[in-house]
Amino acid sequence: MNEPKVLIDTDSLYRRIKELANEINNHFGTEETLNVICVLKGAAMFCTELSKNLKMPLKFEYITLSSYGNSTSSSGKVKSLNMNLPDFKGENVLIVEDIIDTGLTLSFLIDYIHENCSPKDTKLAVMFDKKIKREYNLSPDFSAFEVDNKFIVGFGLDYQGFYRNLDYIGYFDN
Ligand code: IMP
Ligand code: MG
Repeated sequence: MNEPKVLIDTDSLYRRIKELANEINNHFGTEETLNVICVLKGAAMFCTELSKNLKMPLKFEYITLSSYGNSTSSSGKVKSLNMNLPDFKGENVLIVEDIIDTGLTLSFLIDYIHENCSPKDTKLAVMFDKKIKREYNLSPDFSAFEVDNKFIVGFGLDYQGFYRNLDYIGYFDN
């Protein structure tokens, strides 16, 4: 398997995620419950590292969404495997996603939550914002890094299911 080049090394990645957690702490405060929705599979590592640094009482939901299939460009459809979110009964919600690209996946999820789950304040945290490809009118409230038109892997992000375990963010040259 090809070894990806390093785009963001481990230290920089963890340092920035900690900073982002502090931005989130400042926004929500330390008192009110926050419901963290981790979008699997890609956000698993980011969500874990981020939430270690969050200071408010947390509850977790894990859902599986995918729009990419096995290619490197969006398929235009969102596949949801286990969309059984609870009613949040007026509590705060933080959606945690690996990367926002066209915005299709997250628009679908945000609409779903507003229609079905009675959240109070719903915010969106992403590890990467790939602004250049945006097709939906949506931008993250908290984003660790911006990335241009590169296809990146590592720390949850995959290429054909592989590389999610890398402890840094990598890319391929071609
Ligand atoms: P969107 O629905 O077009 O915003 O696509 C978001 C999803 O595409 C993410 O959750 C990722 O699974 C995937 N994705 C987008 N860009 C990349 C990338 O550079 N590397 C790996 N996965 C990506
Ligand atoms: Mg994903």
